[in-house]
Amino acid sequence: MIELQKYPIFTYMNPVTQLFHIQYPIIQAGMIWASGWRLASAVSNAGGLGLIGAGSMYPDVLQEHIVKCKQATSKPFGVNIPLLYPGVDRLIDIIIREEVPVVFTSAGNPKTWTPALKAAGIKVVHVVSSASFAKKSEAAGVDAVVAEGFEAGGHNGREETTTLVLIPAVCEQVNIPVIAAGGIASGKSMAAAFALGATGVQIGSRFVATPEASSHPLFKQAILDAGEGDTALTMKKLTPVRLLKNHFYEAVKAAEDNGADKETLATLLGRARAKTGMFEGHLAEGELEIGQVSALINAIQPAAEIVAEIWAEFEFTRKMLSALKF
Ligand SMILES: Cc1cc2nc3c(=O)[nH]c(=O)nc-3n(C[C@H](O)[C@H](O)[C@H](O)COP(=O)(O)O)c2cc1C
Repeated sequence: MIELQKYPIFTYMNPVTQLFHIQYPIIQAGMIWASGWRLASAVSNAGGLGLIGAGSMYPDVLQEHIVKCKQATSKPFGVNIPLLYPGVDRLIDIIIREEVPVVFTSAGNPKTWTPALKAAGIKVVHVVSSASFAKKSEAAGVDAVVAEGFEAGGHNGREETTTLVLIPAVCEQVNIPVIAAGGIASGKSMAAAFALGATGVQIGSRFVATPEASSHPLFKQAILDAGEGDTALTMKKLTPVRLLKNHFYEAVKAAEDNGADKETLATLLGRARAKTGMFEGHLAEGELEIGQVSALINAIQPAAEIVAEIWAEFEFTRKMLSALKF
């Protein structure tokens, strides 16, 4: 039994705002085919941390987005790189050359690039879906981890650990700041993540439903139309991904039900499936990455409005909870 009274409650500065020199501990996730310079700069200008999603960009495209982002904001911003993509070294070169202050890496080994990025004075954060990987990331020298739960849109862990279980498990294992992701789209869910030990949140799905996101308008509308149970974590034999159920998903499910192996799934996925769906708006055949929380997203709103709304609701929720009498 924990004797809570022996733990003093003291005030402390938020480590995530301090780490990135930002106003609010709200990070807009790096997202392929969604988060270019427009979205990232809008979030950074609003006091959060905007991330350019480099996973869908050739090196010259990333370079252009970084330059435009610098022109659009004087605030800190970052770049997300999924490490499984080929040509990562060229993206890293550009990031270092352009003096991008923050990099979020995902889908790969944090040992590979963290030393080079840190040597260039860049803050490095790695995305994990398990406590054991969080520990490995800390040992690799990252400044913080994003702990991403099962609810999250896009690529995810095989463990299927929900955000509610993952955050305290990760907080127990590491001594660096933990940023919660997966299923967070409001100030209330942000407060819940903080109650679990996180000191920042990374939000993806809600920021796709913004005018600044580069995703196709039909995909944005599909997010608004999505209801409970309309997403699934699929392709666990290949690379697990949470997406909106559509014709492509049904084809994958039928193949999986018939015992399809990794190679068969890779053939079914083919090339550019995510671009086809999220960027070009082919809703039946494309891969439409989005989180469970899409069921709670009902409007396209400017990114700055979302940041302000989430922060106001977070502050209100904190006051409501402390006003509760028993
Ligand atoms: C459309 C979309 C694309 C994504 N692309 C990436 C990516 O390129 N790299 C990455 O690390 N995570 C990616 N993610 C995951 C997000 O970074 C984030 O962790 C996740 O969306 C958080 O959960 P939420 O969707 O419930 O807010 C993507 C998510 C979405 C919805």
